[in-house]
Amino acid sequence: MPATPLIMDVDTGVDDALALLLALASPEVELVGVSTVAGNVPLSRTTDNTLRLLQWAGRADVPVYAGAERPLVRDAVAAADVHGATGLGAAQLPEARTSSAGDGVEFLLKTLQARPGEIILAATGPLTNLARAEAQVPGVLRQARQVVIMGGAVRVPGNITPTAEFNFYADPHAARQVLASEAELVLVGLDATHQVWLAQAALQACTGPYAAFCRAACEPVIAFESVHYGSAGMHVHDPVALGAALWPQLFRTQQLWVDVEASGELAAGQVVVDQRALASDQERLGRPVACAVDVEQARFLELFTERVLTP
Ligand code: RIB
Ligand code: CA
Repeated sequence: MPATPLIMDVDTGVDDALALLLALASPEVELVGVSTVAGNVPLSRTTDNTLRLLQWAGRADVPVYAGAERPLVRDAVAAADVHGATGLGAAQLPEARTSSAGDGVEFLLKTLQARPGEIILAATGPLTNLARAEAQVPGVLRQARQVVIMGGAVRVPGNITPTAEFNFYADPHAARQVLASEAELVLVGLDATHQVWLAQAALQACTGPYAAFCRAACEPVIAFESVHYGSAGMHVHDPVALGAALWPQLFRTQQLWVDVEASGELAAGQVVVDQRALASDQERLGRPVACAVDVEQARFLELFTERVLTP
């Protein structure tokens, strides 16, 4: 079975880094390029982290394209308190010898239009690049074979506000525009990613060339999450989202009519689901999107561990 071409749009970040390593280790896909966006840390850092990681993993051949340095409308937010000042936790990677190959939005436009229907686009940060691409060339996201998004909280609480997940909160206008596009979307929100818990003990027990990096990178995330979730470990949001593209059989999705609250003091970034019995489909908010509601977390962790932590 030939590998499917994959583009990742990332805000590297610790779990973005784990997702990139998972992509590199997965024969189902061929990582043809990465666009970066401001999110967990500023754009200069998300871009440098991505370049360093790919080089360290022996894949400096994968081009990296710097995208948006700020959200469409709102002021930039960050999550350095979780991912550490550099965005890669306590990990230290050698300086990158390469730099951004160009503009991230231009890369998405060019590549998706050059290979219609072929490419899986996995977005694991704020959706600013994807929204800007769709605004420039309406319908361009539909050129992707599939757009898998780590973002949103459909029927569970948010993680950065009571109602919003970080990526959707960071750029709610972009999230709203991408969900409104005609793209073949799979939304992997906290509903699914919070079902997968990487225990610190499991991480400590791993060997393999990436294990030491993963332990150092995950250190501050585990420290942060262990306090809030009462157990030593962390969620691995971005690898789970990529997993929905690699192993769809491990995920249960539901077609839900969804939209995103783009403004508002309390609910910016909230995913609003319209399940009104009294509304016809023509009257519903938003549009139908495949939302991941369940994941076989044990099998996911087995595959993730095999490919990233103990190859
Ligand atoms: O809410 C989790 C998401 O926000 C992940 O993608 C993490 O990397 C941060 O970007
Ligand atoms: Ca991310």
